[in-house]
Amino acid sequence: MPPPLIAPSLLAADFARLGEEVAAVAAAGADWLHLDIMDGHFVPNISFGPVVVKALRRHAAIPFDVHLMIAPADPYLAAFAEAGADWISLHPEAGPHLHRSLQTIRALGKKAGVVLNPATPVETVAHVLDLTDLILVMSVNPGFGGQSFLDSQLPKIATLRRMIDASGRDIRLQVDGGVTAATAPRCIKAGADVLVAGTAVFGQADYSAAMAALRQPRKQAA
Ligand code: DX5
Ligand code: ZN
Repeated sequence: MPPPLIAPSLLAADFARLGEEVAAVAAAGADWLHLDIMDGHFVPNISFGPVVVKALRRHAAIPFDVHLMIAPADPYLAAFAEAGADWISLHPEAGPHLHRSLQTIRALGKKAGVVLNPATPVETVAHVLDLTDLILVMSVNPGFGGQSFLDSQLPKIATLRRMIDASGRDIRLQVDGGVTAATAPRCIKAGADVLVAGTAVFGQADYSAAMAALRQPRKQAA
């Protein structure tokens, strides 16, 4: 099994130096950049929007993985696509028609993701797998970085891994929230193949070493 992809979450970066931070984490070997979009309505925090995503696009060539924590999300999908998102993920609770939202993201030429909050059941994605490129399991309640990993989400990751494998589809399984060198091995064992980490990367002095610790044990042993 290949090592998981690492998607550092920009939320934990130095917001006064965002361009430099994006370039630095890409140079340190980040696979994707995770960008958390919060509206102060769907989640109790506000981050940044498509203008900032667009401004950052020229600072790194790695895929931009945009996690929308906004409701409604549909009116903004085109703006994030135009800003340079490669992956666009949204929460089913953000609108009444998840199937249509995923169709819209695909029609914009982007990869479509579904995000499951801790209380959202896996069945939510069961009938839209044909439109899904990524399933993101939230291992904290969305809205803030630096929270503790919820062990209750590990069986959900394992169930989704079985569901994805049984479908035979090319769908990424991502985990977001409280991912550290201590919790990453459990996520990987349960079947995750993309790890989002804010504090555990941007909160560390050496981004490259921090990401190596998350890819463990394979990369660390090498
Ligand atoms: C939380 C965000 C996460 C957050 C993770 O709502 O979706 O991406 O930045 O932060 P850490 O890794 O510090 O838990
Ligand atoms: Zn996120």
